Amino acid sequence: MTCLTNKQIKDMEKQAVKDEYRLEYHLMPATGWLNDPNGLCQFKGTYHLYYQYSPENCLGGQKYWGHYSTKDFVTFKNEPVALYPDSQFEQGGVYSGSAIVKDDTIYYYYTGNVKHPGNHDYIHTGREHNTMMVTSKDGIELTNKTCLMKNSDYPEDLTLHVRDPQVIKNGDHYNMILGARTNDDVGCCLLYRSTDLKHFELVNRITTKKPFGYMWECPNLVDLNGQMILFCCPQGVETEGYKYENIYQNGYFLVNGDIENEYSLSEFVEFDHGFDYYAPQLFKDESNRAIIIGWMGLPDAPYTNPTVKNNWQHALTLPRQLTFKDGKVYQYPIDETKALRKCKNDVKINNNQKITCNSNVYELYLPVNNHDFKIKLRQDAVIEYHDNLLTLSLKDSGYGRNKRHIVIDKIENVTIFSDVSSLEIFINDGEYALTTRIYDHSKLIEISIDTSITATYYELNSYQII
Ligand code: FRU
Repeated sequence: MTCLTNKQIKDMEKQAVKDEYRLEYHLMPATGWLNDPNGLCQFKGTYHLYYQYSPENCLGGQKYWGHYSTKDFVTFKNEPVALYPDSQFEQGGVYSGSAIVKDDTIYYYYTGNVKHPGNHDYIHTGREHNTMMVTSKDGIELTNKTCLMKNSDYPEDLTLHVRDPQVIKNGDHYNMILGARTNDDVGCCLLYRSTDLKHFELVNRITTKKPFGYMWECPNLVDLNGQMILFCCPQGVETEGYKYENIYQNGYFLVNGDIENEYSLSEFVEFDHGFDYYAPQLFKDESNRAIIIGWMGLPDAPYTNPTVKNNWQHALTLPRQLTFKDGKVYQYPIDETKALRKCKNDVKINNNQKITCNSNVYELYLPVNNHDFKIKLRQDAVIEYHDNLLTLSLKDSGYGRNKRHIVIDKIENVTIFSDVSSLEIFINDGEYALTTRIYDHSKLIEISIDTSITATYYELNSYQII
């Protein structure tokens, strides 16, 4: 197939940049479609953020790896496309994958997707998912494409859906984790081991005792203070009351025991409860911070963003730092986000307060201190806490996205990061999160709370994209 060149992509960018919903401090495709973050790493001081990218089709088409780089998470360079589907192992797209730095080289692992023409279900026949490797000395030129494993190398009871490799260092060796779907429609992961980052040997299968969904996408392993944690995105999990309200889930299991031998997984914990969050990727940076970035969107979502009229869709979330506290993973925007703050305003809120902001691009902190409340944002979004239930509701601008819930026993504070067409809401300094796109330009905030509190409000500067 022919891919668009960087020059052709540049020529297409002009339409999207004029769109009224372009975000100010989130990464978007310059044109076309974006989904999962890929290959996240820090190399010689520079962060490399790649992403699933279809520049020619804002509804999602052939997948490339787009690329931003940054040193400070304020100024970003929009780099040339890093990976094209230009080998026989990936003619249906260079799918998701990760990166690991060793000495002076970045090693990338990703899925080469192949679709064969014909009458196939593309689950049991008609597809290839190849585990691919490339390397780089600078994060820009990715070379030496090699196919490490094909479907015939994976266990026989799996369907052709085996994808999204992530590689981490585990003591004196490395582990690769791959997401998979069995022939019996059970989601699981495969765990491989390597000492040289080139040869991988299957050592274990990771799954729950009772089946949990039919496919686990985008697995990520991370060690937080000695606790091994498996993040993944299960598909095929039914809604249960206020749990699992999106079409596909995102969250984590705590891994107890030895992941390469005897282990057990905890209950699945949902990570971000908003309407638009999926396929997060995690990495440790040079100062050993665990940073996670998600896709502010969902596959097969039952609505289309109004941005399609200007030929673009989706964005990445703010980078968030993870910490492990009281048996739970907390997430909060990395410290660099504070560099976006303009002046600080303290606002006294008494019972029923209306604030009209200068702009929708702000950070708002509300110390609600265990009181029930209702926050109306813009015309359309309501965040409400009552009877230990937090509800986020959208009306017209939700395009069918209606309500999401979290049961919360104690609620001390709420922080809202608002951008032109997104909200990222953090509860209790990151114990819970909800991320959503929003298409409503009203600058109103109405807060009802039966006590008086002092809120802190910052307008935020934009990212600089060069
Ligand atoms: C998750 C996902 C991955 C796949 C990629 C393709 O959103 O379906 O499993 O590698 O997107 O774009």
